[in-house]
Amino acid sequence: MSYQRPKGTNDILPGESNKWQFVEETARLVFSDYQYQEIRTPIFEHYEVIARSVGDTTDIVSKEMYDFHDKGERHVTLRPEGTAPIVRAYVENKLFGPEFKKPYKVYYTGPMFRYERPQKGRLRQFHQIGVEAFGSENPSLDVEVMAMAMDFFKQLGINQLRLVINTLGDKETRSNYRQALIEYLEAHEAELSEDSKRRLHENPLRVLDSKDRKDQPVVADAPSILDYLSDYAKKYFEGVTKTLEYLNIPYEIDHRMVRGLDYYNHTIFEIMSDAPGMGAQTTICGGGRYDGLVEELGGPETPGIGFAMGIERILLTLEQEDVMVPDATNLDAYVVGLGEATNMETLKVVQAIRGFGFSADRDFMGRKAKAQFKTADKEGAKLVLTLGEDELANGVINVKDSATREEKAFPLADLYENFAAIYDEMTAPKFD
Ligand code: HAM
Repeated sequence: MSYQRPKGTNDILPGESNKWQFVEETARLVFSDYQYQEIRTPIFEHYEVIARSVGDTTDIVSKEMYDFHDKGERHVTLRPEGTAPIVRAYVENKLFGPEFKKPYKVYYTGPMFRYERPQKGRLRQFHQIGVEAFGSENPSLDVEVMAMAMDFFKQLGINQLRLVINTLGDKETRSNYRQALIEYLEAHEAELSEDSKRRLHENPLRVLDSKDRKDQPVVADAPSILDYLSDYAKKYFEGVTKTLEYLNIPYEIDHRMVRGLDYYNHTIFEIMSDAPGMGAQTTICGGGRYDGLVEELGGPETPGIGFAMGIERILLTLEQEDVMVPDATNLDAYVVGLGEATNMETLKVVQAIRGFGFSADRDFMGRKAKAQFKTADKEGAKLVLTLGEDELANGVINVKDSATREEKAFPLADLYENFAAIYDEMTAPKFD
């Protein structure tokens, strides 16, 4: 009997995991320049936390949750996204208190779970890197957040990108728009999918986000939210677009973009990859403002904004744009042991080298000398040390610099005393 991984999940194997580390480390560096700090929340949450935030009528909550009752009859769910859990943690840990810096900026990375139909760039366990900033309602912060995402992609070497923005306005905007949208959709009810007919009155904005082909022609001619903005929402959005222009950040407005989660208001945005070969899933980053969500989960009135990016989609983009991911593997020394009698001493030597803070490896498969030298070469070892039975008897070890092919014997005692000195002597630039 052999088993396969669950549908929509991936094993991230060595050779692949270094790319993940490159993406995550780049994010840590860029985000820390913007003064974000890491937050880690549980992989599962109370169902309520997600349902109230993301919204009962969204696909995420109504169709895609990995929820279950635990042995204590608590209704819990694997997290489908990171924002709701972080807002829960923000309220529970009173991170709005006067002792905390404002805006309160956090980032996170980890697995998320959605029961979706798997395809290229769409998984059931996928991974996000995301950020959230609490406590400021300033269009400049919206732009800083978008600029940080773009900056991150630039640092990775991804260039074929499009920043698409929209606004969902404030409460007043949405209640005006909702009315207009319902009227329009009612007039086209017969043409809509069953899901959309149901959502028409419950949550008409969700119809605009429908993935059903049948709904597309109706959605295409729907009224634009931009015609229903309140004075404040209009001013806020102008603040965002003007600041983007002032900073020379190219963007497009898509007045039909609504995003798939209910907690948004004012600015929303997505970053699309235009690299060929991405398949249907080109959105590599999505985010927006969620003023009101902190209150919804029991905290004080607090604005918030953030985004999340799919790591799997970022890796696809890196591949499509032919970005070379730096190879982080590095081997300072390979110790070739010849003959059984050297087996123990060889381990003592590699352990000593590691003890001095260098990377080192040896053979464990009983390979012949030639095969061991080949491995050392393949792994790119900077120094190759050879310990034969004669050397062992004489208490010496042979050290060769792979680059210059220069060789020298050192007393084993010197190596144990200070390998760093041997390393420096052998690899120091030589002048004639
Ligand atoms: P989202 O648009 O649902 O937003 O997801 C953000 C990103 O996660 C997507 O743009 C995509 O790159 C990736 N993603 C989503 N679902 C999948 C999937 N099934 N397979 C692979 N990748 C996927 C959120 O999750 C919000 N919490 C973002 C946010 C943070 N808004 C404010 N703060």
